[in-house]
Amino acid sequence: MRITTLLSLSALTWLPQLAQASVLAIDYGNDFIKASLMKPGVPFDVLLNKDSKRKISSVVAWKKGDRLFGQDAFNLASRFPQDTFSSLKLLQAAPFDAPVVSYYGQVAAPEVAESERKTVILKQPEGTEWAVEELVGMQFAYIKHLAELVANEKVTDVIVTVPAYYTQFERDAVADAIEISGLRTLALINDGTAVAVNYAMTRTFPTPEYHIVYDAGASGIRATIASFTTANDPKTGVAGTHIAVAGVGYDRSTGGVELDRRLRDILVNAFNTKTGRDVREDKRGMAKLWKEAQRVKAILSANTEATAQIESLAWDIDFKYKVTREQFEETCKELKGEFAKPIQDALKNAGLTIENVTSVILTGGSTRTPMIQAAVKAAVGDDKIALNVNADEAAVLGAALHGAGLSRQFKTKNIKVTDISVHEIQVSYFAAPTTANTRPRSITTSIFPAGSKVGTKKVLTFKRKEDFAIFLDYKDTIAPGFPTRMMEVEFGGVTEAIANLTERGAIDPVVKATLTLSESGFVSVSDAVAFGEIKDESLTGKLKGLFGAGSSSSDDSTAESAENTPPRDTESASASASSSTAAASASATPEKKAPIENTISLTIENKFTTIPPMTVDQKRKSRGRLRAIDAEESAKTRREEARNTFESYLYRLRDLLNEDNKDTPFKKCSQASERKEIAERLEESFAWLADRGDLAETSQFLDKRIALETLERPVIHRYQEIEAFPQALNNSQMWNWSTRLFLHDARQNLTAEAAADLPSKWTADELDGLERTLKEHETWLVEWVEKQKSVKPNEDPVIETTEMKARAKVLETHLQKLYRRKVPKAVKKPKTTSTVATEAAKETGAAEPVEAEAEGGDAQEPVIKVETDERQVPLAEEGAPTGHDEL
Ligand SMILES: *[C@@H]1O[C@H](CO)[C@@H](O)[C@H](O)[C@H]1NC(C)=O
Ligand SMILES: *[C@@H]1O[C@H](CO)[C@@H](O)[C@H](O)[C@H]1NC(C)=O
Ligand SMILES: *[C@@H]1O[C@H](CO)[C@@H](O)[C@H](O)[C@H]1NC(C)=O
Ligand SMILES: *[C@@H]1O[C@H](CO)[C@@H](O)[C@H](O)[C@H]1NC(C)=O
Ligand SMILES: *[C@@H]1O[C@H](CO)[C@@H](O)[C@H](O)[C@H]1NC(C)=O
Repeated sequence: MRITTLLSLSALTWLPQLAQASVLAIDYGNDFIKASLMKPGVPFDVLLNKDSKRKISSVVAWKKGDRLFGQDAFNLASRFPQDTFSSLKLLQAAPFDAPVVSYYGQVAAPEVAESERKTVILKQPEGTEWAVEELVGMQFAYIKHLAELVANEKVTDVIVTVPAYYTQFERDAVADAIEISGLRTLALINDGTAVAVNYAMTRTFPTPEYHIVYDAGASGIRATIASFTTANDPKTGVAGTHIAVAGVGYDRSTGGVELDRRLRDILVNAFNTKTGRDVREDKRGMAKLWKEAQRVKAILSANTEATAQIESLAWDIDFKYKVTREQFEETCKELKGEFAKPIQDALKNAGLTIENVTSVILTGGSTRTPMIQAAVKAAVGDDKIALNVNADEAAVLGAALHGAGLSRQFKTKNIKVTDISVHEIQVSYFAAPTTANTRPRSITTSIFPAGSKVGTKKVLTFKRKEDFAIFLDYKDTIAPGFPTRMMEVEFGGVTEAIANLTERGAIDPVVKATLTLSESGFVSVSDAVAFGEIKDESLTGKLKGLFGAGSSSSDDSTAESAENTPPRDTESASASASSSTAAASASATPEKKAPIENTISLTIENKFTTIPPMTVDQKRKSRGRLRAIDAEESAKTRREEARNTFESYLYRLRDLLNEDNKDTPFKKCSQASERKEIAERLEESFAWLADRGDLAETSQFLDKRIALETLERPVIHRYQEIEAFPQALNNSQMWNWSTRLFLHDARQNLTAEAAADLPSKWTADELDGLERTLKEHETWLVEWVEKQKSVKPNEDPVIETTEMKARAKVLETHLQKLYRRKVPKAVKKPKTTSTVATEAAKETGAAEPVEAEAEGGDAQEPVIKVETDERQVPLAEEGAPTGHDEL
């Protein structure tokens, strides 16, 4: 049993200490995918695709080598029917010879073939083959990509919805597709349960209530009945809601696809009758009809009649035909009794009646079909239909909330979910041979009966002395054409282990196998050991026996004895297994016992003799295929970008050269010969683009652009220099002027100080040195500015602004060096000046002297600088041990 804590939509918070990871939820339907991303800082909502659509067609298609998804892919069906892959959900894990595969042939055009795993592969007309898992994996990867655009980081964890009736085979196919896509399975959740979680988010149930989620999807109808109870946790006192799935009913053969098919066949017959030809021979025509049937069905949900209309449906014949709702319902009449049956089955499985149910939540596209709605209303009563639920997105939002709870990264509302598995699972094995030539007897035990809670374990005990195998099977047919055998599990090392225990004095050592029914509905043998109680009179021996015999105090699993003695028949073994459910469900944590000497681990080998899941190697290969496509596509994208950039560059250049654009900076700064050369190269590039553009490599576009830019660059440079010149000149003159001003001032002071016999900051030589630098700068400036005056705009400048700046910098540095010079320590200045200045500085809270020094000057504003620093000069004296008092 799992405690999942979830929080209401509005108050979703996040625990920052467990940073980063976001959770992706995918509701993978036969017709549409809905997805949602749970990430701190990103509003919790349904993920939008690039067209801002909230649901994405479950289609992947190729158009001459370009891969498309969603609506774009869906729209390709009528042009490239055999390259357009939809309704893949029907084919998940389907054995190639199952009826559903030939059914697929009626509703979709792609060619199918048998894989080495006996499942279905789909073939593109040009020969490429895809496993169903690969095509679904591509769609998951596409969703992952959309999520990463929103999350702005890598997204790995995903929870995916599956119908409750999905078998282990199909769940494996989903998990394999997830792995191929580069995602990681956080969990699979039954879609009805996800809707229930979403329903509980914004509600409390002080008195327990039962609700039914009735989901009429494209590939099947299912009804899930669950109890909702809100109560305070006896230990923590925190209020929480417990959702317990009580029963499930389903019909895998009726759904939106079947309704579409029947409506499509009305159109097919109409066309064939009218034309005397069989449109079934035309795959494009059939694809057009399929799309039109879906459209007409939607119209008939709100109207009593609709007109199907397709131009040039096949053989250039236009098609127009009026369909009435009555006509449509007539072709579905034997289904009418089936629509509500899953509800009755769910109630029966739960041991309830409709009187126990508060409301029925409708979800799934087909619940909009009037005859389905009518059937449900007739079965449960109008007043039971819940109206205020946004059922379209309930499953994906519920799944996201559940996933967030599982990832433990989010603080969420306290919701505990107990789900069930709908198919009865049994274990069978051959009894140990009693004599050499008797045929071994087969023993069968129900291990997880229908309705077993998920997230539970059962321990089976076998009196065996040699290696042996068990078979995990579904008791009943799970879907037409599907095998019931799930796997064969071989236990190895039994002979040695039992011999070892016996030798050490164990009495009747046995083999114990732990079977797990996981939260996501997978069955497996999770552990197998040889166990024996060793009568040892020593203290250690007693302790060993104590711990070994009880398995472990945290493990309440009822060891179920399935001995091979004749009196024990299948029936009693089965009963024993079901009675242990409650106890077994209490142990959720895997048994991690400290190694005890009288428990010896056995090897477990799973053999898939019917429909195997993909092997590690197959998955690695598929992942590689998908990666290669991604790499190819991004190279293609880069190439397209380079081509577009090149093309728009060419148009821009052509515009610059245009005769009509007179007096543009480009014209002013260029010479006729330069323009001619660019124009020639430009026309050559245009011709190349038209001729070779479709085949050229990314680097060729770059090279061609660089060649043109090289011709254009001198013109651009001239223009930039003309623009930058006034500012550079101003800067040079400003330093020229500041230095001159400083020298004048400093010389005066030097003379005054010398007269008063006071120390000076500078020597006369130093000031002369600065003057020489100034002169040099001035001379250069005067000379070259003069020369530049006669340069025309379309000629290269004789004086570069970068050089002007560099030369001004030399002068500036020289000036700053002297200007920042500290007053010598034994400075002797009139006392009054110093004191006043110091007081003033104190009052304004001026900075400490050291800092004032360190901050230096901003070279851009030398004039202002002089003033600022002047105020700080007296401050420098304050901290220094001056000789003021001696004066
Ligand atoms: C279901 O309804 C019946 C009849 O109203 C009632 O006797 C029964 O206790 C109810 N069961 C549950 C589980 O509420
Ligand atoms: C039994 O197994 C234990 C642990 O592997 C080993 O130490 C011991 O020697 C074995 N005893 C016999 C009799 O094989
Ligand atoms: C030169 O710089 C000063 C101060 O920044 C400014 O006032 C003046 O307008 C500038 N002159 C030119 C030609 O940029
Ligand atoms: C530099 O400054 C001095 C004095 O301010 C001025 O006479 C001289 O023309 C200036 N030179 C240039 C090139 O700006
Ligand atoms: C020259 O002396 C005056 C008065 O002491 C002072 O304010 C000024 O900063 C000095 N000039 C220079 C360039 O040091």
